[in-house]
Amino acid sequence: MFFKRFLTLFLAFLPMTVIPNKSQARERLNFDAGWLFHRGEIAGSEIENGLVLNGWRSKNAGKTKPSDEKLATLGVNNGRSEWNDAANGKDVFNQQVGFAWYRITLPNSPGPKRILHFAAVDDNATVWVNGKKMIYHEGWNDPFDVPLDEVWKEGGPNEVVVLVENTAGPGYIKEADLVDFDKEEKVPPAARAAYDDNLWKPVHLPHDFVVEGTFDPKADGSHGFLPKDSGWYRKSFDLPLNDKGKSLWLDFDGVYRDSRVWLNGKLLGKHASGYTSFRYDISDVANYGGKNTLTVYVDARISEGWWYEGGGIYRHVWLTKADPLHVKPWGTYVVSKPVGNKANLSLETTLINQSGSTASFKLVSEIKDNKGKTILKLSNPVKAATGAEVKIIQKGGFNKANLWSLENPYMYTWVTRVEKAGQIVDQVETSFGVRDIRFDKDKGFFLNGKPVKIKGTCNHQDFAGLGTAIPDRVFNYRIEKLKEMGSNAYRCSHNPPAPELLDACDRLGMLVMDENRKLGDTPEILSQLESMVLRDRNHPSIFLWSLCNEESLQGTKKGRSQGEAMKEVVKKYDKTRLVTAAMNYGWGGDGLSNVLELQGFNYAIDQYDAYRTSHPNVPLYGSETASTVSTRGIYVTDKLLGYVSAYDVNHTEWAHTAEAAWRPIAERPWMAGVFVWTGFDYRGEPTPYNWPCVNSHFGILDMCGFPKDNFYYYKSWWGDKPILHLFPHWNWPGKEGQQVDVWCQTNYDMVELFLNGKSLGKQETPRNGHLEWKVWYEPGTLTAKALHEGQVVAETKVETTGEPAQVNLEPYQTKMLADGEDTIPVVVSIRDDKGRLMPIADNQVTFKVTGPAHIAGVGNGNPSSHEPDKAEQRKSFNGLCMVLIQANETPGTIELTATSPGLKSATIEPRSATQ
Ligand code: GAL
Repeated sequence: MFFKRFLTLFLAFLPMTVIPNKSQARERLNFDAGWLFHRGEIAGSEIENGLVLNGWRSKNAGKTKPSDEKLATLGVNNGRSEWNDAANGKDVFNQQVGFAWYRITLPNSPGPKRILHFAAVDDNATVWVNGKKMIYHEGWNDPFDVPLDEVWKEGGPNEVVVLVENTAGPGYIKEADLVDFDKEEKVPPAARAAYDDNLWKPVHLPHDFVVEGTFDPKADGSHGFLPKDSGWYRKSFDLPLNDKGKSLWLDFDGVYRDSRVWLNGKLLGKHASGYTSFRYDISDVANYGGKNTLTVYVDARISEGWWYEGGGIYRHVWLTKADPLHVKPWGTYVVSKPVGNKANLSLETTLINQSGSTASFKLVSEIKDNKGKTILKLSNPVKAATGAEVKIIQKGGFNKANLWSLENPYMYTWVTRVEKAGQIVDQVETSFGVRDIRFDKDKGFFLNGKPVKIKGTCNHQDFAGLGTAIPDRVFNYRIEKLKEMGSNAYRCSHNPPAPELLDACDRLGMLVMDENRKLGDTPEILSQLESMVLRDRNHPSIFLWSLCNEESLQGTKKGRSQGEAMKEVVKKYDKTRLVTAAMNYGWGGDGLSNVLELQGFNYAIDQYDAYRTSHPNVPLYGSETASTVSTRGIYVTDKLLGYVSAYDVNHTEWAHTAEAAWRPIAERPWMAGVFVWTGFDYRGEPTPYNWPCVNSHFGILDMCGFPKDNFYYYKSWWGDKPILHLFPHWNWPGKEGQQVDVWCQTNYDMVELFLNGKSLGKQETPRNGHLEWKVWYEPGTLTAKALHEGQVVAETKVETTGEPAQVNLEPYQTKMLADGEDTIPVVVSIRDDKGRLMPIADNQVTFKVTGPAHIAGVGNGNPSSHEPDKAEQRKSFNGLCMVLIQANETPGTIELTATSPGLKSATIEPRSATQ
C-alpha cells in the first residue's frame, strides 16, 4: 500500500562531509542488445483483439447531434432503406462533418468477461448495448473497451448501436472486436520462456521493422507506401541471485505501438501510445539466479498520425536495478533562476521507500559544473515510512553561473544521493542548464534577457536508411545541420520525441517546443501529456509545451474545456514554460485559443494582424509555416517522376514559399518567430504528388540531410555568416541557346553575375529576398561576385563538369563507439576527374564494410526511389547518396569501400573504440 507524504525542507548548506565508503548505487543497464524479432502474427499466438465484427449497417444522422435515442434500441437491419452496409473503415461521411448511426447484432460468445473492443472510431462514439447507454468516447484512432457481461442476454440477440460523430476528414468505425477476455488473458505460446525462437532474426535496438519492407503502391501513402504490420520481439537475460530484494524496472523509451510486454510468461502491461515512454516494475516477476525471457508484441497497423510512423521498439530500452529505497523514476525536478551572476536552484526529489520498514537517511544533492567539479552541496535528513512516497525540496544557489544559451549551451549536473548508515544506497544524475526565458507581447522571445527571434523547424523522427529507429549520433547530425542553417528552435511535431533528441538539443544549443500528440481530456490523453512533462521538464532546451496540433475541436467550447484540463496537468508539474498549441483555425474564438498563454498560428499569415489587434496582450508566433515543396538538385518540375523544382516557387495551396512565409514574421517584431514545415523531408505525405513519391517534399534538407537550395535562403537570413549561393548547376546538355533561371541566395548587399567571364549585370539584394537572372545557356562557368562598396568581397561559381570519374566518401565523424548502435552517416558523392560534384549523376554505388561494423542503411534523398533502405548499394541522386555505418560491439578499425562501375572507388577507415 502506498500512501503519500509530502515534506518540504529548505536550504541546507553543509560543509563537505566524509564520502560514504562503498557505492551500492543503482545500475542502469542499456537493454538494446540481444533481441530476436519476428515480423507479423504467429500461428497459435495470434494477438487478436477477438472476433472482428463485420456486417455493420449505418444510417446518416444529420449535422447536429440527434436527440432521438429511440434509434439506439431499434431492431437491427430492419429493412428500412436508409440503412446501408458499412464496411470496416469505410468513410460513411464522405468527408463531411456530422453524425451517423451504426448498428450490429453480436454473435454468441461464451464469456465470462466479454468485451467489445473498439480498435478505432473516427472520431467520437456513443455506444449502446441492448438499449443501455454504455460509454461516450472521444478521439480518433484511440482504442477503447466496453465491458458486456452486465447487459449480456444469454441466447441473444445482443444488439449494439453506436452514434459516431465526425468532426473532420473521413469518419468510420475502423474495427471493433468481440473479445472473450478470459481467453485473451491466456499467455500466447510466443510469450512463454520455452517458446522456440531459434529462427527469429537477431536485431539491435533501436529497430524499425516497417522500413525494412518493400514499397507498395497499394499501401498507405500517407505512411510512405510501406506496408504496416504487427511483430514480436524476445530477449533473454540472466539476473544474479543477489538482485533479489532490489527494485527492478524496465524503461521503454518508445514502442510503436499498442504494445504488450510479458516477462517470463506474465503480462506486465499494455501501452497504446507509440510516442510516450513507459515502464514496468519487474521486481516480483523476475527470476533471480537464472534466465528471464522478455517478450514484446507490437501492432503498427493502426496509425496515430498521417505521416510515416514506423513500427517496433524504435527507441532504447533500459533495465534499472535500485535499492528499494530510491529516487522515483522521473522523480527529480530542477528549477533554476539566474539572478545577477548567481544561480538560484530549487531541487525537488521524490523518493520511494519499498524496503518494508521505516527508513531514516540523508538526501544529498551535489551540483557539478561541466568539468565535474562540485560547486554546491545540500543535505537533508529524511524519514520515510514503508510504502511512502516522499517529496523533498532543497533550495540553494551558486555564484558565477554559466548560463545555458544557444551559443554556449552550458550544462550542469545535479547528483542526487540517498545515503544511509554511511552507504550510498541510490544515486541519480540529472543534467540541467541555468537560463531565463520569457515572452514579451510586443517584442517576442527573450533568452537570458536578450531578444531571440525563433527561427525554428518542425520535424518528424525519420531518416534515410533508418526510418524512425534513429541512433543517438544521428540526432546529433540532424541538429547540427539545422544549426548550420541558422535555425535555433525545433518543434517535435506532433508527438514527444526520443529523449536523446532532447539531449542533443541541450548539448548543441537548440530550443525545443515539445508537443503532445492530441487534444483531449480522456485519462489516456491526460496521462500521455503527464508523462511528457514529467520526463522532459529538466531539459533547458525545452521552452514551450504544445498541447496539440490542428485538432478538429480546437475552435469549440469543448476544445477549450479539454485544453483547460490539459493545461492544469502541465502546470501541476511545470510552471516555468508557457502552454501553447499549433492551431489552424479558431484563433481568439471561444475554443482552445482562450486557454493558451502563447498563440500558435499554423499558416494563415493574413490572420496575424487581426489577431494582434484584437488580442494585443497575447504573444504570438507561427507554429507552422511555409510547407514549401522542392526536390534537391531538380530545376524542372516533373510530375510523372514526382520531382518539384528547387527554386523557391512551389508550395501547397494552404501555404507559401520560404520567402513569402518568412518576410511577414521578420517584419513584425511582435511575432516571436516561426517553425517552418519542415527541416527534413520525411516518409509519407508525399505532397504535392502521390505514388511514385514515397516521401514528402517539405524538407529544407532531404531525407539524408543534404541541403536543398532553400537551405541557403534560411542561412542567409537566419544565420550570422555571409552567404553566396548560386544555382542551378551548369550541366544542361541540349539546352544550348535556351534560357535558364539563375538564382542567388545571399545576404551580401550586391551581386554581379558573369557567364564565361561576361557580366550579366549587378543586382542589389532585397532584405529577406533573393536574386534572379535569366541566362542564355552555354556550357562553361557561371560566377557570382559579391560586392561591398564597389569592391569584390566574395565569389562563388558553378561550372559545367566533366563526366563521372570517381566516388568520394565523407564521413560525418571518423570515431565511433563500439556499442552495437553508434552510427555515422557517410556522404557519398560522384565527382568528375577534377573532383567536382557531378550534379546530375545517378550512378549506382556498392558498399563493402570490413572490420567490426555493418551497413545500417542507405539513402539518396530521391522522393520517388523505391530502392530498399536496407541494402549494400544505392543509386546516387543528382550526384549524392548516403551510407550509414553502424559499429558492432567489438572495437577496431573499419574499412568502408565504395565502388561504382567505371569510376575510381573510395575507401575510408573509421575507428570504433569502447569509449
Ligand atoms: C499541416 C499539418 C502537418 C502537415 C502539413 C503539410 O497542416 O499540421 O502535419 O500535414 O500540414 O503541409
